[in-house]
Amino acid sequence: MARVLSAIQPSGTIHLGNYFGAIRPWVAAQRNNDAFYSIADLHALTLDIDPAALRANTLDTAIVLFAAGLDPELCTLFVQSHLHEHNELSWLLECVATYGELRRMVQFKDKSANQESVRVGLLTYPVLMAADILLYQTEQVPVGDDQRQHLELSRDLAVRFNGRYGTVFRVPEAIIPSVGARVMDLQYPNRKMSKSVGSPQGTINITDTADEIAKKVRRAVTDNEADVLYDPDTRPGLSNLLELLSVTTGRSPTDLAEDFSSYGELKAALTSSLIEALAPLQQRMQELRQDYGHVARLLNEGADKARAIASETLARARDAVGLLAQR
Ligand code: TRP
Repeated sequence: MARVLSAIQPSGTIHLGNYFGAIRPWVAAQRNNDAFYSIADLHALTLDIDPAALRANTLDTAIVLFAAGLDPELCTLFVQSHLHEHNELSWLLECVATYGELRRMVQFKDKSANQESVRVGLLTYPVLMAADILLYQTEQVPVGDDQRQHLELSRDLAVRFNGRYGTVFRVPEAIIPSVGARVMDLQYPNRKMSKSVGSPQGTINITDTADEIAKKVRRAVTDNEADVLYDPDTRPGLSNLLELLSVTTGRSPTDLAEDFSSYGELKAALTSSLIEALAPLQQRMQELRQDYGHVARLLNEGADKARAIASETLARARDAVGLLAQR
């Protein structure tokens, strides 16, 4: 079984892009891997975030993940900040990383552009991410394409640290999903469904009611052709609907296109398919919300399991760089 690690930021509402693109693959991967999943609340601090909202979102993200099927018997889910090991290794890695390479990260350039003052945490964000990964001797990191460069940095830091101080870390590999779960905004089908840049009407959240889902799908932007055809380049809106239906049904979008003779039919089918797919998830979320104590216990157990591995790697890294052991 491969050691897999991934993390998600607790950003509040979770939309279909997060769900089909990240969460469902996590659930699938827990069976045949030794999977560690983390809620990256420390990373969330790089943005302006309300403390009460961060706390609530972190718990809520855990609820969504458990409701979606993460099973504490099969994987380890924990809150990043529950382990001081992440911050500690991050510092050791900051002293291996260079300002130049961090400044060149595309996400840093994007997020810091046109800002009057830029948080240092925004610059060192990928180093903390490297610590998240390297602490667990991770072999594979399933991430979206937007994290590819950060993964590359994690590998560079692991190799550099090992070269300088002796082998402590396994060098991880990125697992970037080929295609399939690229969910686009229903109003702007050329953009990814996204909390930050998406449109509210074009974004379906997993907590949306049946009515909200129906309305958003009905108003989804398509085109003025008449036939139902899968062609993402020329028919992005329509193709996105077919891809969404493909994700819920497991059939190929091209295949599905043949089932429908009008956009209305397709939209109706997609609506009921989404409602059906989300209903059990929403039901389990509601149950878990009745029992925060249970969720907190699961997170504690997750943190304990994670710490068993992380503390060992950290101890080796501390020793390797020459920190005097306390006796
Ligand atoms: N930076 C990632 C994101 O925003 C989240 C993340 C934090 C992560 N630590 C990680 C992803 C470690 C993979 C591995 O999506």
